[in-house]
Amino acid sequence: MKKKFLLKKIISILKKKGLSKKHSKISANYLIEAELFDARSHGITRLKMYCDRIKKGLINTKPKIKVKNINSSVSYIDADNCIGFVAAEIGIDKAIQNAKKTGIGLVAVKKSGHYGLSRFYAERAVKKKLIVFCFTNAPPALAPFGSRKPLFGTNPICFGSPTGKVPFIFDSSTTKINRGILRRADKLGLKIPSGLALNKKGLPTTIAREALLGTQLPIAGFKGSGLAWMIDILSGVLTGSSHSGKTKDPFDDFSGPQNIGHLFITINPNIFSGNNFFKEIRKNIKRVKKLPKAKGFSSILYPGERKNKIYKKNMNKDISIPRKILKEMEVLDANK
Ligand SMILES: NC(=O)c1ccc[n+]([C@@H]2O[C@H](COP(=O)([O-])OP(=O)(O)OC[C@H]3O[C@@H](n4cnc5c(N)ncnc54)[C@H](O)[C@@H]3O)[C@@H](O)[C@H]2O)c1
Repeated sequence: MKKKFLLKKIISILKKKGLSKKHSKISANYLIEAELFDARSHGITRLKMYCDRIKKGLINTKPKIKVKNINSSVSYIDADNCIGFVAAEIGIDKAIQNAKKTGIGLVAVKKSGHYGLSRFYAERAVKKKLIVFCFTNAPPALAPFGSRKPLFGTNPICFGSPTGKVPFIFDSSTTKINRGILRRADKLGLKIPSGLALNKKGLPTTIAREALLGTQLPIAGFKGSGLAWMIDILSGVLTGSSHSGKTKDPFDDFSGPQNIGHLFITINPNIFSGNNFFKEIRKNIKRVKKLPKAKGFSSILYPGERKNKIYKKNMNKDISIPRKILKEMEVLDANK
């Protein structure tokens, strides 16, 4: 499907459900961006979820978003349960503004919702030549190391840096697979690779539904569990948002707004060594890339390079949408 047409369609569907024109445009844009990054788990497959939550009043369509400047570097945002994309965009833009003024920006966002890919916001900061960390918490998916019950989310860790060329963007779930892939596989009846999740009985599974009801495995064992916990503290406890298993799953918990928290940290890379940063980061990447290659590798990529290539390739192509998701869009479009 042509991108322009798809964008218009999504905006029109979101508006029909009650979202403002501005918030519909921002959200539709990010859903398309996810498709272009080949992160289809965070693309159009999620449209129904957002619509369901808008219809049930769990995403506030007329939020009164409050931005409190604690000092010139630090701001605290109450997003009033607006759609996560909008809350996060306001949050990162504030963090960018603060870092431009003082060298560092620290912005906490509370009462937000699922914001899609962390890289969306990291890219905004990197485009302004800033180093950035983005954190968000997510609904229970991962059993803390030593437990049987999922409590932490897939809590992504995202770091971005300008390089003078393609930005360095490391953006990864703290689970071996992001939950959206499980949701999409479940919807489309696809199997998941083994070694990523356990069923309710604690046994390995390749069936997406069983994995959703069971627990997802962390990256790097107890280290991944520790990172997920760290992000729960930064995004949840520190920001005054939901934490320790209290973040509502956007797909099947309609008992209230998600109350997700985000934390954005932006740093002016010139702060310590002036323009030397850009000279040194180029050296840094060059040295890594020059290393002798492991068996089966012809090049060494830094985080963000592969996604950048994928994005550029997809920019010139139509977006292919599985029939089942197209059908879902038609139904969403037909009903108010
Ligand atoms: N909003 C939420 O609640 C939430 C939760 C979890 C994940 N997410 C998002 O889902 C997206 C996907 O997460 P994921 O865990 O599936 O990430 P992934 O496994 O696709 O990638 C993880 C990281 O590894 C890097 N990478 C991949 N292949 C590489 C290679 N060959 N060489 C060097 N680096 C390589 C990528 O650039 C990326 O930075 C992220 O954007 C994340 O923010 C969102």
